[in-house]
Amino acid sequence: MIVAIDGPSGVGKSTVAKLIAARLGYTYLDSGALYRAVAWKALTAGTDPADSDAIRRLCATTKLTASSTVGGGMVVEVDGQVLGDELRTPEVSRAASQVAALPQVRAWLLPIQQNVARQAGAPGLVAEGRDMGTRVFPQAPVKFFLEASSAERARRRHAEFVGAGQVAELAETQRELEARDGRDRTRTSAPLTAAPDAVIIDTGRLTIEEVVERMVRLIERKTAARR
Ligand code: DC
Repeated sequence: MIVAIDGPSGVGKSTVAKLIAARLGYTYLDSGALYRAVAWKALTAGTDPADSDAIRRLCATTKLTASSTVGGGMVVEVDGQVLGDELRTPEVSRAASQVAALPQVRAWLLPIQQNVARQAGAPGLVAEGRDMGTRVFPQAPVKFFLEASSAERARRRHAEFVGAGQVAELAETQRELEARDGRDRTRTSAPLTAAPDAVIIDTGRLTIEEVVERMVRLIERKTAARR
């Protein structure tokens, strides 16, 4: 069983995907971490994340691996180095949305993501990102697209920053988030959009528990129907 979860930044995808994975014993794929890993490598190497040729060369000489365990998180390694918090800085967030617009980066990451799914096995995989239901796992039996207003998403993202002890301004957080979203929605290569068969959930009106409950109910119905 593959569960695809897509949606814009700050909509709660990671939170619900991890809760669903823990509850159902599924493997978790955080596809955004892979785009962030490419961005991190570009910034570390002093390569412009928008320079298509330079990024192509960079990918060709990079060893990127992603491994997930049931009930655990996803571990990303770049050239043998395990990456964690360094993937979550505002600079990496910005650069990730730039490299994500490059078709060759998307093509390079495709088999890496599909490999995580192959290794996941039973009972299933919950994959979150922007194109899980449209490109990476178009055959997924269950697809969700999460939505919420940019003001609500910025408020949550800002609370996360503050909770993590970072200094951030709400208006700036919203501006950054809208800029990234605009890029993700309007790029020509796999833009952020709901798959025609995705169930759309507005997370702005629900608690995390309510969102997870709805999703788990649908996953269980689909799993039972496939038996
Ligand atoms: O989900 P995230 O914030 O970690 O994603 C980082 C960036 O990568 C974001 O700007 C969108 C992009 N991304 C993408 O284009 N496709 C995915 N499947 C996942 C993320």
